[in-house]
Amino acid sequence: MCGIVGYIGGRRATEICLAGLRRLEYRGYDSAGVAVMSKGKLVVRKKVGKLQVLADSLEAEPIEGAPGIGHTRWATHGKPSDANSHPHLACGDKIALVHNGIIENYAELKEQLMARGCVFRSETDTEVIAHLVGKYYEGDLLAAVIRAAKDCEGAYALAVICEDEPDVMIAARLKSPLVVGLGEGENFIASDMLAVRPETDQVYVLDNDEFAKVTRDRVELFGPEGQRIEKEPYVIPWDAAAAGKMGHEKFMHKEIHEQPGCIRDTLAGRVAAGMEEISLEGLTMSEDEIKQVQRVLFTACGTAYHAGMYGRFVMERLAGIPSEVDLASELRARDPVILDNTLAIIVSQSGETADSLEGLLELREKGAKIGSIVNVVDSAIARESHWTVYTKAGPEIGVASTKAYTLQCLVALMLAVRFAEVRGSKPKAELEELREGIARLPAAVEATLENEQQIVELAEKYQQYDDCLFLGRGVSFGSAMEGALKLKEISYVHAEGYAAGEMKHGPIALIAPECYTVAIAVRGEVYEKMLGNIQEVKARDGKVIAVAFEDDEDIKQHVDDVIPIPRVPELIAPIPVQVPLQLFAYHVAKFRGEDIDQPRNLAKTVTVE
Ligand code: G6P
Repeated sequence: MCGIVGYIGGRRATEICLAGLRRLEYRGYDSAGVAVMSKGKLVVRKKVGKLQVLADSLEAEPIEGAPGIGHTRWATHGKPSDANSHPHLACGDKIALVHNGIIENYAELKEQLMARGCVFRSETDTEVIAHLVGKYYEGDLLAAVIRAAKDCEGAYALAVICEDEPDVMIAARLKSPLVVGLGEGENFIASDMLAVRPETDQVYVLDNDEFAKVTRDRVELFGPEGQRIEKEPYVIPWDAAAAGKMGHEKFMHKEIHEQPGCIRDTLAGRVAAGMEEISLEGLTMSEDEIKQVQRVLFTACGTAYHAGMYGRFVMERLAGIPSEVDLASELRARDPVILDNTLAIIVSQSGETADSLEGLLELREKGAKIGSIVNVVDSAIARESHWTVYTKAGPEIGVASTKAYTLQCLVALMLAVRFAEVRGSKPKAELEELREGIARLPAAVEATLENEQQIVELAEKYQQYDDCLFLGRGVSFGSAMEGALKLKEISYVHAEGYAAGEMKHGPIALIAPECYTVAIAVRGEVYEKMLGNIQEVKARDGKVIAVAFEDDEDIKQHVDDVIPIPRVPELIAPIPVQVPLQLFAYHVAKFRGEDIDQPRNLAKTVTVE
């Protein structure tokens, strides 16, 4: 978490840094700060609160000059405060540094530095690195940063400037993401490509243990021993507009509405009506290897975990392979047993989530083949995997994940169908029907979006409830979990996702007139059982909203409200089912006046364990 930017060039650094930080605010928004070389002096401004507080301060009292570095914080060590905000200073306030990540041995380092007389002004782990750079500084900032990095264990992305070298910025990366953007007579540092895309489409993506010396006209890359490295710049494949709101009030709203287009992009060249097989360019396993898989283990965090729940279901159902899904943090806590021919599939939007990444490394170490479903191209999880199939969501900025989720489900489904094709585990006609259903998904999702006004009315009706239950069964269980997560994370309504069959073992005690239930009741294998659960809720005076196929007239007699979705094969239904649930959460949160794109305490990319 935390976002970093840096600018060197002829423009006012604070303006570029603020614009970049706005695009990185999804990484954290507890406090923000900048340090700028202004008229030969290092000037620092940092403010607790959202970025706007810093922006207002800079507008009232601008800071001229460049280079400059900026930071938006998600607090780990030390509560949000001006003092704990970055940048941190050292070496007689000559050196300023911003950091994303965690220095695990900071306590030990801090003790050593204090014994040498360093005075600490914050409770952060970051200040330790600033003092270490100060300790090793002998007129060469790059050398000092490389030396300081050797003492640090953990994860970091750093940007550093120094009053004695006013024409240089240093960037360093270990485990936390960092890119260097290439301009004309100016250059940029940022936590991700989003932040620099309006300025350039050419970036160096730093690898672990890489350092960059950035001046106005030059970017030089170095390895951990200070040796020069050459690499090709990466060309960002989407334009700057993709990272804007494009007329929508909130990123989340824009991202929900982008889903039909993103599904088309994710399907392009992979599935189309009439195609005899799915073609997944990232899946590099041979047919023999696919046939040998004896166990599939989906691993992820948050929303991506719910996509993994769906992945587990369809993989087992279609490919006939015993499949499981695990929270990455729990998997690691368990020291899992990995048998031969296990395929682990890591699901992640950012490709940077610390628990998912560490889980991947452990599974790989234990001999699993690693596949991944990732959105951010070339991110750490993609790079550490044996193969990756990308979701083509483009940038997702709203903290609550929407389009990434439906695309993760879609890719998991395509993988399951592909495995079934290769393994011959399902009749050809059934697979053909699924491929056709998949090809029709953009239209099905478009149809659910056209129904937004009805969702607004429902959200208005239910906005005052503080408790709610989402029920799903079978293939819809993950949908219920994800529906509840969406609602709770942006509207702060207490929402629980539950397997409908488990309701009578506990949650039924919650049913009362002041708690409503959202039941996923698409016709199929478990429809009758779900109707039974709905009756149990109604018998206890609970209100029920059902998500059901639009041609299902019966359901209306059993529930208070129906959210209709177009009819698709049952196994595919979780994709269109989720879209109105995303809209419902969005509009409930809007009616309740919450900050939808930046919900309290959350960050989009969780790079701490
Ligand atoms: C955070 C985000 C979630 C996301 C989860 C996993 O909690 O707020 O939206 O699902 O991290 O992130 P990943 O990038 O690995 O999908």
